Amino acid sequence: MYLGIDLGTSSVKSVLMNAEQQVLASASKSLTVSRPQHGWSEQDPNSWWEATCETLDQLAASHGVELSQVRGIGLSGQMHGATLLDSNDNILRPAMLWNDTRSAEQCIEIERTCPNSRKLSGNLAMPGFTAPKLLWVKQHEPEVFDKVAKVLLPKDYLRLCLTGEYVSDMSDAAGTLWLNVAERDWSDQLLAATSLTRDHMPSLVEGSEASGTLRKDLQQRWGIKQSVVVAGGAGDNAAAACGMGIVKPSEAFISLGTSGVLFVCNDKFSPNTENAVHAFCHAVPETWHQMGVILSASDSLQWLSKISGKSAKDLTSCLGEIIQPSSATFLPYLGGERTPHNDVDIRGAFIGLEHSHDLKALTQSVLEGVAYAFKDCHKALQQAGSDFEAAFAVGGGAQSEAWLKIMASVLDRPLLIPEGGELGAAFGAARLAMCAAENASPETVCESPKVKKVIEPSAALVTQYKEGYERFESLYPALKKA
Ligand code: XUL
Repeated sequence: MYLGIDLGTSSVKSVLMNAEQQVLASASKSLTVSRPQHGWSEQDPNSWWEATCETLDQLAASHGVELSQVRGIGLSGQMHGATLLDSNDNILRPAMLWNDTRSAEQCIEIERTCPNSRKLSGNLAMPGFTAPKLLWVKQHEPEVFDKVAKVLLPKDYLRLCLTGEYVSDMSDAAGTLWLNVAERDWSDQLLAATSLTRDHMPSLVEGSEASGTLRKDLQQRWGIKQSVVVAGGAGDNAAAACGMGIVKPSEAFISLGTSGVLFVCNDKFSPNTENAVHAFCHAVPETWHQMGVILSASDSLQWLSKISGKSAKDLTSCLGEIIQPSSATFLPYLGGERTPHNDVDIRGAFIGLEHSHDLKALTQSVLEGVAYAFKDCHKALQQAGSDFEAAFAVGGGAQSEAWLKIMASVLDRPLLIPEGGELGAAFGAARLAMCAAENASPETVCESPKVKKVIEPSAALVTQYKEGYERFESLYPALKKA
């Protein structure tokens, strides 16, 4: 029996998986985000640990016998967050999250003091990442910075609570901007750019390797008899990829969650910093991945849902069959954008509105705008030398076939809807737990799910969306000036 724990931004989810990889039970507990100032996004690390314990207590109550047989735990989590600890492991301030945008100036400074930072880290310095957050703390809260003894990523703070060890895995560590991503090791130069050293960092393991064992008192609390291996685990996107069996070159998925992710697996480190491609280590050895990340995917539809008073489902189900693109173009930059613009200040727009446009037309143009933003990501990944033939589509937005049809036609690639069941990051983490506990190969454990349905691009729409995309692409520079 194996446990996968995913520390998301809005909840912690734990799943219990058996040796046949069936998910027997899951439990979740919601989390809140605090936004005390414009651009800030924070959470209390204690709330992560309390929520995690609650999910495991729930599983102990509902599936005590199965939980008692757990041999491995895998961790997945929201990436990039900065959890600052003093030398006694006290939490020094609320954790600054992946969508916290306060450190744009510090990004410029890091690239100035470490001119080869893009080469070493494979990434642009972006405010979402961890290193600029630490420089912000150094400059704005020096009394806190002086006490920092360890910096941990969110899921690695849970590991400390579970095992007493300071460890991270390669995929999550790659999102700090302190990792030499090609060499899979901390970079002394990148650390020095934020006045830190290796001593401030956890040690590193591969996601499928062991990182420690569950503390005895917790083993007793959850009625577990044998010693439990805790695997390295992964950042949430790499964990989700393991859940979908995406561990070989050119395998891909798109996630239409709050944020949107286009994820492609690579057999080598392939950066494209110019277009804000994320080039990270994967959670399995000698494998890397690239991601294009857009900040408002389903969130754009949620925004329209909030202001129109209709549920997202009602909005998309009115669309029927899409026969031609909307004549209005939506730019989904409601909270800035990462790939390809790396621009925290840019904001969204509707362009080309006319009298005849109703809520249905606006809904279509929101779905298309998000699909065009994914096309931007696809283009950026192609420029970095990678591509994919078809991609799995997951996340809340993938429930809408209309949206997937638009997306498949804009990207000109078939999208695969996986057969039901649990495939997310928590499941991927449970698979990594299985690898670490049984010394099993990730390629064998991480099989692809069955495909329930293939959404093919429509030839007529592919041609029309080419034009639509050209218009979309030309609008960012105009909006930037406005
Ligand atoms: C990836 C990113 C997000 C978070 C969300 O770079 O910032 O996908 O990991 O949890």
